[in-house]
Amino acid sequence: MVTRSVQEMRKFVAPEFVFGVDARGLAGRYTANFGAKKVLVVSDPGVCEAGWTDAVMASLADAGIETTLYTDVTPNPRSHEAMRGAEEYRAHGCQAVVAVGGGSPMDCAKGICVVVSNGGDILVYEGVDRIPIPMPPLVCVPTTAGTAADVSQFCIITDEHRDVKIALVSKALVPDVALIDAETLVTMPADLTAATGLDALVHAVEAFSSNASWEITDLCALRAIEGVFRWLEPCMDDPLSIESRTGMALASLEAGLAFSNASLGATHAMAHALGGKLDLPHGECNALLLEHVLNFNLPVFSAGRRVQLARAMGIAIDSATDVEPQAISERLHLFRHGIGVVDSLSSLGVTRADLPLLAETAMGDACMVTNPRRPQQEDIEAIYEAAF
Ligand SMILES: [Fe+2]
Repeated sequence: MVTRSVQEMRKFVAPEFVFGVDARGLAGRYTANFGAKKVLVVSDPGVCEAGWTDAVMASLADAGIETTLYTDVTPNPRSHEAMRGAEEYRAHGCQAVVAVGGGSPMDCAKGICVVVSNGGDILVYEGVDRIPIPMPPLVCVPTTAGTAADVSQFCIITDEHRDVKIALVSKALVPDVALIDAETLVTMPADLTAATGLDALVHAVEAFSSNASWEITDLCALRAIEGVFRWLEPCMDDPLSIESRTGMALASLEAGLAFSNASLGATHAMAHALGGKLDLPHGECNALLLEHVLNFNLPVFSAGRRVQLARAMGIAIDSATDVEPQAISERLHLFRHGIGVVDSLSSLGVTRADLPLLAETAMGDACMVTNPRRPQQEDIEAIYEAAF
């Protein structure tokens, strides 16, 4: 059962953030506040095409800041992309980084920042609290609602030499400012809205499940779960609704604050293994795994925490004292199907022969440490099998 001693210490780290329509227009003013005259703007081709990169660069130009644009960033960004970005930063004498985009550009931007201040290869900073020198100023303008890299202590980079995703976790990775503008979300295609929105849900559920959770992270996590269940379907139905997009931006922010401080669990560890080995989309992997991971984890929750989780998901509960774990995983299953995420691991191209290595990789992931129930490798294989 998940219990917490009243004597255990907890902390909570968050960046400055501005939340609201047109927040992107503050990029120039906030970056100028750091005294930067030249900045590296990290984005990707899709976000450029949507026009958000130009909008942020115009704000920087208005503030008298020179920009160098770096867009060699792929989904599941590779270590060499961060290393190349660091070369660009140095070659142009930049003094700060502005990231515009979803999780990939923001994680790549964090990787660039780590390398320019600490030197060496990004891969050597894998793990928890392994970044000795603070990053240069980093301003993030997220254009998806889910990753929350704009407020988190996490940076996920693919080690393309080993086909694994590595996690860097450190207070040093918290951006200086997040400019969260729901208007930038309206250009997301439906599949990205669904995958990133479900990623936010998984962040919140795993933060609530984590053995490092506490009252403040619970507060954020439960509100985020309610928010995703309230606003994700409306975003799918009416992609241009600023009200619905704002609801999801807020849920993503709350989930980000929760998981940044409570960390994650087996779902993310297993999704990282899939993303590294098979280059599969992060949000979708998480969405397919969560219900099965919860079937493994929920028996160690206290009855009261199962009820809290079920209520946040809008499950009608007969008893105020407990809820069937099955009701929670079924609710998740129906929710993801309702927004069109109906795949299984096999339909994404995973084979049974992949499972032992995937499970071994997941067991070594930094996110596994805070899973509320310690699995054996065969448990992880069985969870992958259930999602097959
Ligand atoms: Fe995630």
